[in-house]
Amino acid sequence: MMSAATNTFESVKAVILSAHKSTTSRDKVNFYNSWAENYDQDVTVLDYRAPSLAANSISSHFSGSREAAVVLDVACGTGLVAKQMKRLGFGHFVGVDGSEAMLDLARDSGLYQDLKLSMLGEETLPVQWADSFDVVVIVGALSAGQVPVAVVRELCKSTKPGGYICMTTRSNRDNLEYKGALERELKQMEEEGLWSCVEVTEVEDWERAVSEQEDGYISGAVYLYKKLQL
Ligand SMILES: C[S@@+](CC[C@H](N)C(=O)[O-])C[C@H]1O[C@@H](n2cnc3c(N)ncnc32)[C@H](O)[C@@H]1O
Repeated sequence: MMSAATNTFESVKAVILSAHKSTTSRDKVNFYNSWAENYDQDVTVLDYRAPSLAANSISSHFSGSREAAVVLDVACGTGLVAKQMKRLGFGHFVGVDGSEAMLDLARDSGLYQDLKLSMLGEETLPVQWADSFDVVVIVGALSAGQVPVAVVRELCKSTKPGGYICMTTRSNRDNLEYKGALERELKQMEEEGLWSCVEVTEVEDWERAVSEQEDGYISGAVYLYKKLQL
C-alpha cells in the first residue's frame, strides 16, 4: 500500500511561508536543504504542476531524437522535471542545483548522468558546456531570492544552436517585479538575435496559493525559446 501523505495543506503553507524570511539565494538554498526530504510530498499537496507543464511545452515542439537528446535541468531539485520528461521519451539528463540535500535525492532517482552543485548567480555554468545541450530547462527557480534574471543568458549559452530553452515563473503579486524584469531580459535577448520566442503559456491554476493575501490558485507562466543557429 502507498504511504498516505502526512502533511496537510496548512502545514505545507507554514513551511513555505517560513521560507519567505530567506532574503538571499544562500538562505533560500539552506531552506531547500531542510525541506528536501518532504519536498516531493509537499508539492503534491500544493498541486504543483510546473514540471509537467514545462515538459509538455518542450515535448510539443521538440522534433529530434528524444532518446539521444541531452537535457540540462537547471535548479533540478529532487528531479521532478527529469521524471516528467522521461515519461515523454527523453533519456539523458544533467542536473545542477545549489542545495546538496536536493541533489542527493536527484542522485537517488537514478535519472541523471551527472549532477553538479552550483550556486547560480554566484558561480557561472561551466564554459565547456557552451553550445552543448539539446534542451535546457529551469522550473520553479526563477523568482526573487532564488536564481537571478541574468542567469538566463547562461542558459542560452549552454544550449546547442537550434535547441530549446524552457523557463517557468510565477505570476502572483509578490513575483510581478521579478517577472517584469525577466520578460524584459527575454525580449532584449530576442532583439540581440540570440533566440526566438516559440511560445508563452499563461496558466491560471498554476499551484495552490500559500500567502495570506491570496487564496485558491495562483497563476504562472511557461516560456519556450529556440536558440538561433549561428
Ligand atoms: C522549487 S525548487 C524546484 C526544483 C525542481 N526544478 C522542481 O520543479 O521540482 C527550486 C530549486 O532551485 C534551487 N535554487 C534556488 N536558488 C538557486 C541558486 N541561486 N542556484 C542554484 N540552485 C538554486 C533550490 O535549491 C531548489 O532545489
